[in-house]
Amino acid sequence: MEKVKSYANIAIIKYWGKKDKQKMIPATSSISLTLKDLYTETEIEFIDDAEIKKEVEKNGEKFSGVRDLFFLNSELQDKIHTEKISKVVDLFRTQENEKNKKVKIKTTNNMPTAAGLSSSSSGLSAIIKACNKLFKKNLSQEQLAQISKYGSGSSARSFFGPVGMWDKNTGEVSEVKTDLKLAMIVLVLNEEKKIISSRKGMALCMETSTSFDEWIRQSEIDFENMKKYLSEGDFSKVGELTEENALRMHETTKNANPPFTYLTEKSFEAMEYVKKLRKQGERCYFTMDAGPNVKVLCLEEDFERLKDILGKKYKIIASKCKVISDNDD
Ligand code: DP6
Repeated sequence: MEKVKSYANIAIIKYWGKKDKQKMIPATSSISLTLKDLYTETEIEFIDDAEIKKEVEKNGEKFSGVRDLFFLNSELQDKIHTEKISKVVDLFRTQENEKNKKVKIKTTNNMPTAAGLSSSSSGLSAIIKACNKLFKKNLSQEQLAQISKYGSGSSARSFFGPVGMWDKNTGEVSEVKTDLKLAMIVLVLNEEKKIISSRKGMALCMETSTSFDEWIRQSEIDFENMKKYLSEGDFSKVGELTEENALRMHETTKNANPPFTYLTEKSFEAMEYVKKLRKQGERCYFTMDAGPNVKVLCLEEDFERLKDILGKKYKIIASKCKVISDNDD
């Protein structure tokens, strides 16, 4: 049995749209922080058909036809969910003698699943890492990232840290060098599953949003500027652009047909609160993904104090960044 741990990442320049769905070329380049305290732990082992049959008999019709066994937070997943994971494992079952190998995967997230807290980025990257070990493929972080993007685009960035990027023009996933020591504080406003997945949301925006072309155009500029501000170590510029880019992404949902939003009244209140703290002299900036929770970007040196302040008002999950090395497992 192999055991791995992988970390969630949260984008400060968002991936939102696919230029080529088959080849997984994103419509926008993105940059994210990989967070050491938002993670997934995954165990994987080979199993035989008899074990699958036994579990299906025990659990019922919904599970019949599964090719592998997939437990998420100790719960066996049904055929639809398991098939998604089996397709990811297929990316490693490439040799003739591997084709019929079945696996059992047990995965645990230390954060609410599918509430826009990026559990998919740590979840998918953990499965990819686990398969790399089990199938003894010995692939590099970049190679693993390139496989991971087929499971979920954003998960590719979790193979790099503290800061990772995915370049839409070169297709490369790599580390972004910066001297800034960054951290994130997630304000958990709602732990419900999101109504529209990021995959569906970005597809709907790409197909129908009247501001999508403008989003792509501006995002290219944002990406270049963010790399510059990170390399110069200019935190206030990094923070301001993080907010602007997130708001631009969310603008595309409002202009979609039908229009939709991931943000709630509570999200807007939280964003206002972050701005208010800033007026009081705190260095903190917000970002939001495909869910209502607001994530606060700050510097490590202000982390403890901001945790105290925000923790008084909200349920928080806070984390510094994770440095990922080449042989990280
Ligand atoms: C809003 O990676 O979940 O979090 O590639 O379709 O699986 P798929 O989408 P996914 O999209 C993440 C979108 C985002 C922004 C980001 O993480 O860059």
